[in-house]
Amino acid sequence: MTTDDTKTPGGAPISRRGFFDLALGGGVIALLGAILYPLTRFVIPPESPEAVASQVVAAKIGDLTPNSGKIFRFGKDPALLVLTKSGEYRAFTAICTHLDCTVQYRGDLERIWCACHNGNYDLNGNNVSGPPPLPLTQYNVTVRGDQIIVSKA
Ligand code: FES
Repeated sequence: MTTDDTKTPGGAPISRRGFFDLALGGGVIALLGAILYPLTRFVIPPESPEAVASQVVAAKIGDLTPNSGKIFRFGKDPALLVLTKSGEYRAFTAICTHLDCTVQYRGDLERIWCACHNGNYDLNGNNVSGPPPLPLTQYNVTVRGDQIIVSKA
């Protein structure tokens, strides 16, 4: 045993060169892990449970004024609740059928409007002008107590 030797935690002698080789090897492994782990997580994202919902509480009575709308989450997707001028609740998917932008309610037009390419839907969800090729999917709306509940048809 030389004066350069140190002991491992187990008591076995290790040379200074062996110690630095070990430390360098550990550093290289740690560096590779720090680079590869985020890359792997990016390429293979963790499975997330699909947020499946058949009904949600979209709002409470009084949240909307007549001739207004509100975006809410229906599962993982945005949806739109509209309170018409006549006081009727209607709900639709808020995903435009053209290129998947989120639509909104425009009280001044009394229409559902997509800002991306000026697409317009009427209050039945029908595509009436602009590029949207299909109507919006309409949901059922029921009022239970003070809750406005939206469910899939
Ligand atoms: S994405 Fe809505 S009109 Fe184009």
